[in-house]
Amino acid sequence: MKSKKVFPAKLSGSVKVPGDKSISQRIAMLASLADGTSKVTGYLNGEDARSTLSAMEQMGAKAEFRDDALYITGVAGQLQQSDDPLDMGNSGTGTRLLAGLVAGAGVEVSMIGDESLSSRPMGRIRQPLELMGAHIGLTGKRGTLPMMITGGKLQGIGYLLPMASAQVKSCVLLAGLFAEGKTTVIEPRPTRDHTEKLFQALGIPIKINGLEVSIEGYGQGGPRFKARNFVVPGDFSSAAFWIAAIAARPDAELLLENVGLNPRRTALLDVMKRMGANIEVTVAEGRGDPYGTIKVRGAKLNGTVIEGDEIPNLIDELPVIAVAGALAEGKTEIRDAAELRVKESDRISEVVKNLQRFGVEVEELEDGMIISGPTNLKTPDVAINSHGDHRIAMSIAILNSFSDGAITIDNVGCVDTSYPEFWQHMEQLGGKAE
Ligand code: S3P
Repeated sequence: MKSKKVFPAKLSGSVKVPGDKSISQRIAMLASLADGTSKVTGYLNGEDARSTLSAMEQMGAKAEFRDDALYITGVAGQLQQSDDPLDMGNSGTGTRLLAGLVAGAGVEVSMIGDESLSSRPMGRIRQPLELMGAHIGLTGKRGTLPMMITGGKLQGIGYLLPMASAQVKSCVLLAGLFAEGKTTVIEPRPTRDHTEKLFQALGIPIKINGLEVSIEGYGQGGPRFKARNFVVPGDFSSAAFWIAAIAARPDAELLLENVGLNPRRTALLDVMKRMGANIEVTVAEGRGDPYGTIKVRGAKLNGTVIEGDEIPNLIDELPVIAVAGALAEGKTEIRDAAELRVKESDRISEVVKNLQRFGVEVEELEDGMIISGPTNLKTPDVAINSHGDHRIAMSIAILNSFSDGAITIDNVGCVDTSYPEFWQHMEQLGGKAE
């Protein structure tokens, strides 16, 4: 098991965060389905993005890294059967989105994953995919992996999502590509729309009307669209660790360039501004998802309330927002975030437990937590275990940069799923981890 000893530090400066995980994985799937070869610049070199790409190669796509870019040659709508299971590693996005694609493509495939992924609920995709006509076998104990998908001959459906989930929405839309007739999904709250944006960029007929998204299926023969070039912006969710770290430290400064700024991903910036941080954003348009520059100047932060429609827009950032809450003056309340309990770990319980180890006053709620700050952090005398959750490992490393002793974080290999350069970047900003 890989561990890191992390030291307190005043972080400040500039780093280049790696490519967006959500966008990279969607591009791997769509470029693999396209007709011809796509050049992808900025593809995330992390395990989740790699396992999704390998799964596509197992089903007939060709992928090659050459001269700092990834070249994917697609199967022109015709995925091939894979006799070996697709090993999705830690990737919930890869698993759920690919299940939709495979169900539509009419191949029979099984999917497996690591311990964390094998404990995450898959019934949420089984329901709509079976309504469309696929068969999804979940042989794990509680509606979990391993999953056997037998697809083909899907019918379009109208589906009201029972939870705000971009993964479930995208799963249904990808299956809808192969369905007869129209597929419509209606989401209860706005979630990230990278799938919709990529469909538009590829000329796939999609209609968006508020929270309702429809696609006209191509039928069982599969979608036909041409390969194209893609540029993946830096991952805002990776940038979030440095944004929170610098925002909460008076006088520290941060410059991040080429970061994804899709408005359905960036609510963390609103939260940090509400808490009192100085943040300046410059947006560039014109290559799919908006991207740009973020400048942060740290300040003394105040608590805030985070709930409702804001939650899906910062769902992956909540662990590090809780860290900022521990350092802020007054109460920080997180509500409506029960989805956190089914992420790579139960992030409500893990965050609460770990904050308490640093002496933070925090109350656990069924759907969030209430943190009372500011905290004079005490250095935990036990090692912290990430339990295989990359965002828990990175959030704790950020929290400890504000303490006055070194801590050990166990089980940090998971950081490589989304941000392999995290420790190196921490050192670049003046931190120390060994
Ligand atoms: C993702 C959507 C979110 C997010 C995950 C990536 C995506 O999950 O937490 O890290 O790429 O669509 P849900 O849509 O299940 O909330």
